[in-house]
This record gives sequence, C-alpha cells and structure tokens, in this order.
Amino acid sequence: MIKSYILIAAAWFLYKAVCSTVLPSDIVKCHFGDSPCIIKSINDVIRRYPKGIPEIGLPPLDATEMEDVSMLDSPYRGPIWLTFHMRDNVIKGFNNATVTHIEGFNRDPTIEPIMIKARIPRLVHEATYDMQGQLLKLKANTTGKLQSDFQNIHFTLKIKIILEYRNNKRYLKVYEIVPKVTLDRWIIWMNDLYKENTDLTIAINRAFNKNWVEFWNGVEPGLLKAFSVAFTGILNKVLENVAYDDMFLPDFNKSNSSI
Ligand SMILES: *[C@@H]1O[C@H](CO)[C@@H](O)[C@H](O)[C@H]1NC(C)=O
Ligand SMILES: *[C@@H]1O[C@H](CO)[C@@H](O)[C@H](O)[C@H]1NC(C)=O
Ligand SMILES: *[C@@H]1O[C@H](CO)[C@@H](O)[C@H](O)[C@H]1NC(C)=O
Repeated sequence: MIKSYILIAAAWFLYKAVCSTVLPSDIVKCHFGDSPCIIKSINDVIRRYPKGIPEIGLPPLDATEMEDVSMLDSPYRGPIWLTFHMRDNVIKGFNNATVTHIEGFNRDPTIEPIMIKARIPRLVHEATYDMQGQLLKLKANTTGKLQSDFQNIHFTLKIKIILEYRNNKRYLKVYEIVPKVTLDRWIIWMNDLYKENTDLTIAINRAFNKNWVEFWNGVEPGLLKAFSVAFTGILNKVLENVAYDDMFLPDFNKSNSSI
C-alpha cells in the first residue's frame, strides 16, 4: 500500500520541479542541478499548498484520493483463495513530507538518473475494502472500512525518464519509477472482517498488527508494480503540460537564482 503513497508524493515532487508558466508566482525557481535550491523550493511548496494546485491537475496533499486497488486476486478455486480490493481510497499526510536529498535535474536530465529522498512522519490511509475467500473451512465474504497508519516513512525514488521535443521545448516523460521504502510501524484496522464474529475480527486484526513486517513484505512487491503504472500516468499528465525548460531558471545566468 505504501508504494502508492510514495508514488503520489513522487507526482507532487516532480510537479514542483516543473513549476513555471501555469504555476503560482511565489514558487522559487532554481538553476539546473542546484540541488539545495530545488530541495528548499519543493519543501516550501509542500508547506504552502496542502490543498494542491488544481490548475495543473495535482491533487490535495492533505487528503489525496486514489484509484481502486486490487491487493490480492487469487484464482477462484481450491481450499485456500483470497481476493482483496480497496475503494474510496483517501490518503492523508503528504502535506507533512520533507524532501531531504535530490539528484539529477541537470540541464541534460538524461546524463544522471533523477533521484529523490524524502521522509513523511505519518500517512493515514482510509478505504472501503471488499474481501472474498476461503481458508480451509473459514469462508470470507466481507465489505467494510479499513484504516492504515504508516509511521516514520523514509523513501527513495528513482525516476527514469526520456526527453521529448515539442515547440522547440524539451518535455520529460516518465517511463518507470522505482521506489524503495522503509517505515517504523504499520498499524492496520479492518472493521467487520467477520460481521457475525467480533472476536474473530479483533483476533485477525491483532495478528496482522503483531506480524506487520511479514504482512508488509508479502504485499509490497505486488503493489509496487500496480502503483508504478498508475502514478507514472499521473506524473506524465503534468509533464505533458509543462516543459522541462520552463521548470528552471534560464541557463548561463547565475546571478538570478530566485523569482
Ligand atoms: C500533518 O501535520 C499537521 C500539522 O502538524 C497535523 O495536524 C496532521 O495531523 C498531520 N497529518 C497526519 C496524517 O499525521
Ligand atoms: C457474498 O455475499 C453477497 C451478498 O452479501 C452475495 O451476493 C455473494 O454471492 C457472496 N459471494 C460469495 C462468493 O459467497
Ligand atoms: C539574468 O539575470 C539578470 C539579473 O538578475 C536579469 O536582468 C536578466 O534578465 C537575466 N537574463 C536572463 C536571460 O534571464
């Protein structure tokens, strides 16, 4: 799940690096490759625009809506199978993200990979889940609310891009995002897992939370791919509109480092 959060953040960070024509004039522009300036500028924007900037199609950071997610989808047969889908997804807490390290964003963005490191103290994910399955004699067929609480997240994003040329300007296009994530704690609570058996619902929730590391390791790889695809799409929507050349100060003018 956390991959999705991270990739939303990626969309936001890249968007910020994009800032220019359609963006608010209080956003500080930097020189190509000026990492300290870019980091500061991104962090300023995150603090200043918790509700996002709708003009360029970027979502609110304090409550970000996400597309439906299919976490598990095993074949519909056998003594053990499970499907687990999530909808009405809202993620809270990107507005508290802090970028700590950046690489790339050079005049030629293809010579060095783009890399972003950031930290988020807490992300809360709220959703409606639909679960169906069978674990030997235990059948599940449930819809309920879930809340996930991810604490002290550190992440690194490697963003692979190609350059396109339009109207004499260069545009970035993301073709892959490779995230790496660590976190201190994941607390998840699913209501009504077994409507007729509250004790079982509590027991399973407790088991998840006691063994969250194993659970996390299990779902992490599968989610990665789905969300890489989803958020590469979001990023590219923004990058289609704003030229890479318009994100930064004109070259060869070191005296003019901010608006
Ligand atoms: C983000 O920070 C604000 C201000 O400190 C706080 O009120 C809010 O609860 C934080 N968000 C999350 C998801 O923890
Ligand atoms: C799950 O429950 C719904 C109604 O609550 C029912 O329509 C559906 O057929 C059930 N599915 C399975 C696989 O039991
Ligand atoms: C370079 O900077 C100077 C002063 O900061 C400014 O007047 C000038 O317009 C800039 N040149 C370009 C090409 O942006």
